[in-house]
Amino acid sequence: MLNLVWDIEYKVQLLQISTFKHTTMAVKSKVLVIGGTGYIGKRFVKASLAQGHITYVLHRPEIGFNIDKVQMLIDFKQQGAHLIEGSFSDYQSLVHAVKQVDVVLCAISGTDSNNLLLQLKLIDAIKEAGNIKRFLPSEFGMDPSRMGHALEPGRDAFDKKMLVRKAVEDAGIPFTYVSANCFAGYFVGNLSQLTGSFIPPRDKVCLYGDGSVKEIYVDEEDVATYTIKTVDDSRTRNKTVYLRPPGNIISQKELVCMWEKLIGKELEKSSISPEELLATMKGKILQPNQACVD
Ligand SMILES: NC(=O)c1ccc[n+]([C@@H]2O[C@H](COP(=O)([O-])OP(=O)(O)OC[C@H]3O[C@@H](n4cnc5c(N)ncnc54)[C@H](OP(=O)(O)O)[C@@H]3O)[C@@H](O)[C@H]2O)c1
Repeated sequence: MLNLVWDIEYKVQLLQISTFKHTTMAVKSKVLVIGGTGYIGKRFVKASLAQGHITYVLHRPEIGFNIDKVQMLIDFKQQGAHLIEGSFSDYQSLVHAVKQVDVVLCAISGTDSNNLLLQLKLIDAIKEAGNIKRFLPSEFGMDPSRMGHALEPGRDAFDKKMLVRKAVEDAGIPFTYVSANCFAGYFVGNLSQLTGSFIPPRDKVCLYGDGSVKEIYVDEEDVATYTIKTVDDSRTRNKTVYLRPPGNIISQKELVCMWEKLIGKELEKSSISPEELLATMKGKILQPNQACVD
């Protein structure tokens, strides 16, 4: 009798513990980061590990010739990441990698916009593997569906991101698109000068128009943290998530003013009209921090 009571109590406790675990500790998805050795991708790996996800990083064989990237992979491994060798040119390697996880996050480079279309192979692999609960394609900038007014050559990357979206949706793969607006590292430090340099000017600054248009600057670590937070959030399934912290929405003039206060010096200001800006960009190959909008 005593045994039976104990047995019942024990079973009730077990049931309570498992119910408690079920309601309070949802299992975290396993995440595969592709492009994890890139500018934003390395932050995704870090954030995924920090938020307790079992994290896989796909790396190309070519990376073996780049000592900085090899060191980065070693760091990831020491922090608990699983490294998988694979490549867009080896379809089966993609299928194999995708089968290990629940979520695929792709951060492939958009500088050469043709890279973005390599994701079409990844989409095929995800379809074949059939186990993926969420796919986040390489976006993390302006929402391409709202960039129909962008001009060439920058327009091309938005168009390719839209082709990727269409393939994802046609394949019926659950997705989240993250629109991260302007990465702070690219656009804040240099006071949004599109010169290609990321060092803040100390003498002269060029304002776009009168410098009063508001921009949304987002710190890359925040982009990574909130991107990873979406992967197990049912509210973000098949949705676009916009990262736009209200305190980060400021004009170029306000940004310049903050810098002037920091260095205790007023900069000499010039201004460029939209027409002049577009004329200077004609025929140019754009840098990652340049996009033309009419
Ligand atoms: N909102 C913004 O201000 C902003 C700024 C920059 C970028 N972005 C967006 O963020 C996303 C990622 O850009 P990023 O600058 O972080 O990229 P990135 O650093 O240029 O490259 C990311 C990854 O792409 C991989 N890669 C490049 N070419 C490849 C190829 N042919 N085959 C396989 N892998 C290849 C690289 O792999 P290896 O390491 O093996 O070379 C690297 O890990 C893009 O969609 C971009 O448009 C947004």
